[in-house]
Amino acid sequence: MTGDELRQEFLRFFESKGHKVLPSASLIPNDPQLLFTVAGMVPFKPIFWGKVEPVYTRIATCQKCLRTNDIDNVGRTPRHQTFFEMLGNFSFGDYFKKEAITWAWEFVTKILKLPEEKLWVTIYKDDEEAFKIWRDLVGIPEKKIVRMGKDTNFWGPAGPTGPCGPCSEIHYDTGVMDDCPKNEECTPANSDKRFLEIWNLVFTEFNQDENGNLNPLPKKNIDTGAGLERIASVIQKVGGNFETDLFMPIINRIGEVLNVKYKESNSKDISIRVIADHSRAVSFLIADGVFPSNEERGYVLRRILRRAVRHGVLLGAKKPFLHFINDAVIEKMGKTYPELVERRKLILEVTQTEEERFFKTIVQGNEMLNDIIAKSHKIISGEDVFKLYDTYGFPPDIVVDVARERGLEVDLNEFERLMELQREKARSARIEVEFAKSSEDYNRLAKTIKTAFVGYETLNCEATVIYTKKQDSRLEVVFDKTCFYAERGGQVADTGKISWDNGSAIVEHVYVPIEGIIAHVVRLEYGELHQGMRVRLQVDKEKRDATARNHTATHLLHAALRKALGNHVKQSGSLVAPDRLRFDFTHYQALTKDEIEQIENLVNSTIFEALPVVTQEKSYKEAVAEGAIALFGEKYGDVVRVVKISNFSEELCGGTHVKNTGNIGLFKIISESAISAGTRRIEATTGFNALNYLRTKEQLIENICEKLGTSQDEVSLRIENLLEKNHIMQRELEQLRSKSLTLQLKQAPVKQIKDIKFLYHIFDDVESNELRNLSDIAISGENSLVALLFSVSRDKVNLIVRVTQDLTKKIKAGDIAKYAAQILEGGGGGRPDFAQAGGKNPTKINEVIEYTKRLLEQK
Ligand code: ALA
Repeated sequence: MTGDELRQEFLRFFESKGHKVLPSASLIPNDPQLLFTVAGMVPFKPIFWGKVEPVYTRIATCQKCLRTNDIDNVGRTPRHQTFFEMLGNFSFGDYFKKEAITWAWEFVTKILKLPEEKLWVTIYKDDEEAFKIWRDLVGIPEKKIVRMGKDTNFWGPAGPTGPCGPCSEIHYDTGVMDDCPKNEECTPANSDKRFLEIWNLVFTEFNQDENGNLNPLPKKNIDTGAGLERIASVIQKVGGNFETDLFMPIINRIGEVLNVKYKESNSKDISIRVIADHSRAVSFLIADGVFPSNEERGYVLRRILRRAVRHGVLLGAKKPFLHFINDAVIEKMGKTYPELVERRKLILEVTQTEEERFFKTIVQGNEMLNDIIAKSHKIISGEDVFKLYDTYGFPPDIVVDVARERGLEVDLNEFERLMELQREKARSARIEVEFAKSSEDYNRLAKTIKTAFVGYETLNCEATVIYTKKQDSRLEVVFDKTCFYAERGGQVADTGKISWDNGSAIVEHVYVPIEGIIAHVVRLEYGELHQGMRVRLQVDKEKRDATARNHTATHLLHAALRKALGNHVKQSGSLVAPDRLRFDFTHYQALTKDEIEQIENLVNSTIFEALPVVTQEKSYKEAVAEGAIALFGEKYGDVVRVVKISNFSEELCGGTHVKNTGNIGLFKIISESAISAGTRRIEATTGFNALNYLRTKEQLIENICEKLGTSQDEVSLRIENLLEKNHIMQRELEQLRSKSLTLQLKQAPVKQIKDIKFLYHIFDDVESNELRNLSDIAISGENSLVALLFSVSRDKVNLIVRVTQDLTKKIKAGDIAKYAAQILEGGGGGRPDFAQAGGKNPTKINEVIEYTKRLLEQK
């Protein structure tokens, strides 16, 4: 049975048991708790949790998964992988242990035809129900039902909190007895090599909360997971996952591209397996919208990709190769996962670009490494390894490899110590921020009240002071309700004023110290502010309006980018301020001028159409029902706000917006730049700010025209003329300079020492090729001449020594240069007729001249 057939058979089997077969969800979960989809159950977490009603109560999938916790073992063992496919059947409050167990058994023995005597099972230690089902219903001998503890037979939650439960596993006896104990029976409890877990059946009946407590879920569920590659290796009777037909086409491509053979050398096989695994991870991550970067998912992708490239380098790669391997991944897996074929171009381009970048790093790092090696005796210091890593991201394991080749040691302990120091610095910085945010008071306050936000509807309101706290020269104030927007989701806070009968204060900043509480940072103008007082709040309207224009424009920009560049564009950061907006997004190359214009046009035509901006609040469940789940980034249970602009844009957003796109007036992009590989940044402005921006440009041109004494129509021509004139003058200047230098040379004294003419001169700051030309002039048509030409610039001196051919038997320019270099404190040497020296001590020039004189006198 091929791997593809296995996948199909599994899904077909569970379809026949009343399951709805769904396609794999994205590797990027709609789950703020998880970076990646780590198991088949992840897309259904809210259903297991009881937060969302299931449409189907029985589902079966083959889910793409990514786990990076064991990445260092990938390649070294026959089975570790990062990316893998998980077969799974799920029951949401429908069937439970009996069906889950008997169907799993039926599938492995009847469909896969694995011999019963080769199968063992494990259960959670006191799960009598599962024990009885295995023994009485399935008929497994008691000694082959192994009871195990929580560390192995309790699964979940995926993430810090959520659904979990005891589990029961099916193991396959490989017959390999290497790690079996001598004096007791060999079972899945004491041998990993002999027994291979092929299927995990989880009886999901608990919710683990923040404190680690297990609370019963409203319904009992089933979550199972079987690694496709692993089962394939068992039924195909091969030594490991990488030898299955799921991997071999990829491994063959690696062989072709890097010119290596699998199964010829142990160390090479490790690298081949790493590349085989990582090329799949990289391809699927990019297909699901991840781009290499230094944060979160992008960082994981970058690490995996670089690890693959490094192993390619170990196999002798001198230039980017991984994209060719990814091509094999797309070819092999594209039928099952059409997103690979759809985004083929993107996958290959992003991979190649990142590879090129990394190869450059390797080249630059190599140069620095060579310098380090040249100065190191026996051992490369941890500090040097750290510097390489810190400046170029140059991987320590390459340092170790290279060092080993040159017979050097590497102080990795010191390197680790420095790394830990840096990590600590980063950690403590983070903790300080967190700490400041969650002060005790606000924690307590949040348990009793929630500030009502009325700022979508109104910019002024009356409110009661609930809490005040002195902070340096400022006061932090919480009201029962507020019309001030707190800094959130990239939008800056409102500012404005508070007033009461005999006092007033300026609101400088507003933020959310803890969910539910809105804190105002205010400066008192006069009077006093106490708990219980009634006050009037007034938001600065001009600033709010300008911010709203930029926020709505941000949504238009986001939609326009996706229309113009493609759906891989995803927001990765945003700032909405009154004067400008900044939008970071995933895209793999710089935007062209045309693309920028096209995007500006798209946004502006939506503005000119004056479309209404509609906001609606919906419950999480409603949003899910309407298919808005794909956009979900907030916590489950929140009320979500949908901002819709005709059918041009629809986003979940809590920010403040204009009522009609016409209010934006005008949209202008100010800059487009890279902030990291795969992430671009656009800065833009709207309304009066856009107008002012254009006015400033206009003023600039006017100033230039005025300075040049010309009109706007003529200014380009005028600048061209000026540049041309400048060029001519430059040339004339050079000619004059060269004439003057030649003149200096001609006037330089020539000493007759016996029958040798000795010429020397010290020039002021001439370039070395100029000095060389002058030396040509000095000796041209001459015989029996020795010339020393110096050039001095600040504390540097250059020297050219020329000796005419007839003297080179007796006097060698190279020797003079070498000696001069010592005197001048630098380096030098050359041929008998031509040599150069340089140094950093110009005060010693006379010594060089005197030395040469003496030398000539002796000849
Ligand atoms: N969710 C279970 C696992 O990942 C099936 O093993």
